[in-house]
Amino acid sequence: SRKSDLKGVKILVTAGPTREYLDPVRFISNPSSGKMGYAIAAACAERGAEVELVSGPVSIAPPPGVKLYRVETAQEMFEKVMEIFLSCHMVFKAAAVGDYRPETYCPTKIKKDSDKLILTLVKNPDILKELGKRKGKCILVGFAAETENIEEYATKKMREKNLDFIVANDVTRQGAGFEKNTNEGLLITREGEVIAIPQMDKKEFAHRIIDEIIKRCPALCQG
Ligand code: C5P
Repeated sequence: SRKSDLKGVKILVTAGPTREYLDPVRFISNPSSGKMGYAIAAACAERGAEVELVSGPVSIAPPPGVKLYRVETAQEMFEKVMEIFLSCHMVFKAAAVGDYRPETYCPTKIKKDSDKLILTLVKNPDILKELGKRKGKCILVGFAAETENIEEYATKKMREKNLDFIVANDVTRQGAGFEKNTNEGLLITREGEVIAIPQMDKKEFAHRIIDEIIKRCPALCQG
């Protein structure tokens, strides 16, 4: 049963958006609500796992029984994740991490003196890719929000980042994507298996993903 099949398993989940600040009052971000990551954290906790949730700024409450770490920027998330993952058996990387940040941070509010403001962005670390290099026996699960060629792009990401599984969503579909309460998509395995998960509530979707992963990683449930 699902009730305690993850007992003794330590799981890191990331969720929500990041904020990349230009100055103290402005940032670049994205519409991630954190709902999918929080649903995964809740589902893992319900199944008896010890859950560490690293979250960007969201407006939803943390699930009961989960240890929450609040971060804002991609760099803060990177540091927290690198510290915590070492003691984890599995990582779900559901956060929508900002790929770029402003090259310079202005410590005082930028004034609107000029008609044109040129922003230079520099690349943030790819947290998941770095985990892929360091992962050891840790099972890595990534997420891929795509708008076309879902299976192909997600498979490419899984290989490039050395993941064990990737969950791919077509964010142009009604039942999936940012801020929605439901999700639907594909769970793709390292071996190239593609499991289609139909539209359902995000919590149930989370349980389905976990069911499929557990089936393929029997050693996980022996603690
Ligand atoms: O390459 P892309 O950002 O689409 O990959 C998505 C996956 O990579 C997600 O699991 C996301 O959390 C993770 N990611 C990350 N660090 C980044 C960018 C994405 O961990 N800087």
